[in-house]
Parts: sequence; structure tokens; C-alpha cells
Amino acid sequence: MTALHVSQRDAPQLTPKEIATVKKSIQQFQLGEGSRGLRLLQRAQKYADLVDDPFFVPALDLFIKEEQQHSRYLADFLQSQDIRLLPKHWVDSAFRRLRGLAGLELSLAVLVTAELIAVPYYRALRDATGSHTLKLICTRILEDEIAHLKFQSSMLDRVTFGRSRVWQGVLTGLHKIFLLVTISVVWTEHCAVFEAGGYDFRRFKSETLREFREWNVSRRTLPTQATVQSNAAVGNPARTDAGEGRAVLRKTQHEESGI
Ligand SMILES: [Fe+2]
Ligand SMILES: [Fe+2]
Repeated sequence: MTALHVSQRDAPQLTPKEIATVKKSIQQFQLGEGSRGLRLLQRAQKYADLVDDPFFVPALDLFIKEEQQHSRYLADFLQSQDIRLLPKHWVDSAFRRLRGLAGLELSLAVLVTAELIAVPYYRALRDATGSHTLKLICTRILEDEIAHLKFQSSMLDRVTFGRSRVWQGVLTGLHKIFLLVTISVVWTEHCAVFEAGGYDFRRFKSETLREFREWNVSRRTLPTQATVQSNAAVGNPARTDAGEGRAVLRKTQHEESGI
């Protein structure tokens, strides 16, 4: 998809009331969207080596780059309004720490939680502003986030292949509890945007849980990993690119170290 161009200059300015409503909230989301995902890619590389999946890491790398693009859209918009970018925030740090402690599956589940929250959030932000530019950014990010949820279904399906339905049901229940806690934290931090976009807590919670239900249904209706593996086993020529994932990770580590 072609990237949006968000001008940092000559942008129509938000009203003082809009700035008071959205400023801190967009600053936090801009920070949260910008993770480089190095530890996630390292874990993904271990998994990809284990199951000999040459596509896993390059796919995840593209996903991370798309999230970073969201961060750039919001950064350019904030700068167009002369609003500074946040160097850090406790919610973002908590999410990063949690992903750091987790294995690959839990890291992906935490990311899914953020995507599920992002859908109603960007809908609310789009309706909370009269800024055409901000509405356009929200619409573009929403299109991506909905696609990301499908993408994460596919990635988690690979990672959890062969798991019993009972155990998966238990884990889905735990994921829902984590989502409910996250909904409360996000409401506390961003209720001004939600309320300006026509949401009360009940609507935010029910819309997020609906996204979660639909996401779980989409997971259950995916083609199984067995199909993927058997296709690969009959000689998919692309498997000769097994070094591609490692190359992506090396490149990212290179960028991370600032070289
Ligand atoms: Fe995003
Ligand atoms: Fe996303």
C-alpha cells in the first residue's frame, strides 16, 4: 500500500479544544507504534530455524515496518502542530517490558492486544477531530490494523500448531483477562479522546471484545499449518531462500546498533 505523505509544514491547525483532548493521547500512541521489535525478531528467528520456515521472519519484519510507518504518520502530524514527541511513557515501557519477558507466543499475543485496542481507538480519534489530515491518518492506520489482526492470526496459528483445543481455550481465556485489564488502563489514559469520539467505557469495552471474538473465530477458520507444511514439503522453490529471514534480522540488528 502506498504510504501517506503527512506534511510537517503549513498544516491546518487543531483548535485549542482539540489539542487539549488529543495531544497526550496521540503522543502515547506515536511512541507505542514505533517499536523496532528486535527481541521479537530474535525469538522469531529461533522459531523459524526450529521449524525451517524461511518466510516467518521476513513477514514479521514487514509487519514491524508498517507499525513504524504508523508512528511516523503520527510524529509528522504532531510536529505539524508544534507538539513535541514523547521520549518515553510508563504504559509503553510496561508493554515493552512485558514483551521482553515473554516468549514468542506471548509477545505476539501482547501485540494482538494492542491491535485490538487500536481499532476502536482510531475510530474514536477519527470522530473526535475536525482535522482532515488526522482523519485520513486514522483511516489509513485502521485499514492496516485490521489487516494486522488477520496477519497475527496466521502467525499465532503457526506457533501454536498441534495444540489441544482445551488448552488453547484456557489460553484464550487468559488472553481475554489480559485484554480486559488493558481496556481499563487504556480507558484511564485516553478517555478524553474516546468521549470526544462518541464512546463511553461500555461501548469501548464491547467493541474491543467483539473484535477479540471475531479475531478468535478467524483463527479457527484459517487453513491449518499442516497445509502450509505439506505445501512446503513438496518442493516449494521459495524454500531455497532460507537465509532471507536471518538476513533481515542481521540488517535490523545493524540498524538497531546505529551502524
Ligand atoms: Fe499500528
Ligand atoms: Fe498494527
